[in-house]
Amino acid sequence: MYFITSNEGKFREVREMAAKYGIEVEWLKMEYLEPQGNSLEEIARVSAEMLSSQIEDEFFLEDSGLFIEALKGFPGPYSSYVFKTIGNEGILKLMNGVEDRRAYFMAVVAYFDGSTVRTFTGKVEGEIAREMRGTQGFGYDPIFLYGDKTFAEMSTEEKNRVSHRRRALEEFFRWLKENKS
Ligand code: IMP
Repeated sequence: MYFITSNEGKFREVREMAAKYGIEVEWLKMEYLEPQGNSLEEIARVSAEMLSSQIEDEFFLEDSGLFIEALKGFPGPYSSYVFKTIGNEGILKLMNGVEDRRAYFMAVVAYFDGSTVRTFTGKVEGEIAREMRGTQGFGYDPIFLYGDKTFAEMSTEEKNRVSHRRRALEEFFRWLKENKS
């Protein structure tokens, strides 16, 4: 089954999780145009629908984002752009002096089975750290605290046990086993 992403970190996490369900994932490394939208679910679904006109085989993709409570959910669906522009340092600046550090990651998997698109969601709650910590992972991992460690201070395996992506994929892989095998 193809997994479409240009992000190698994501692909590695997905491949490791899929293997546990006996599913072999092939990396279709490509950038695709993401529509703008107010929800990850809508962005993931519309992206998959647009790609389905180019790719005939089954495939899935995943769209994720970081939602910070004190910033009313920002950067949310704009996480990718915000990471590329102001990055972790910019987020820490925005959160300077803010006591409420609660945040969550959300992931939406969109799966195209050759005729329709279906979505699966996962969420993990944590906090924004006061400074960047750790060297593992990618993206916002160094500023996302889960318990007393940031995601970047965890091994891939540790992160994969609790992550938003894990939760969305688990729902997806379980559904696949029940409905497609
Ligand atoms: P997208 O799903 O590829 O659009 O990612 C949105 C943004 O969130 C990107 O900047 C990613 O680096 C970031 N992101 C997505 N998942 C994670 C994660 O598990 N850890 C840290 N950052 C993430």
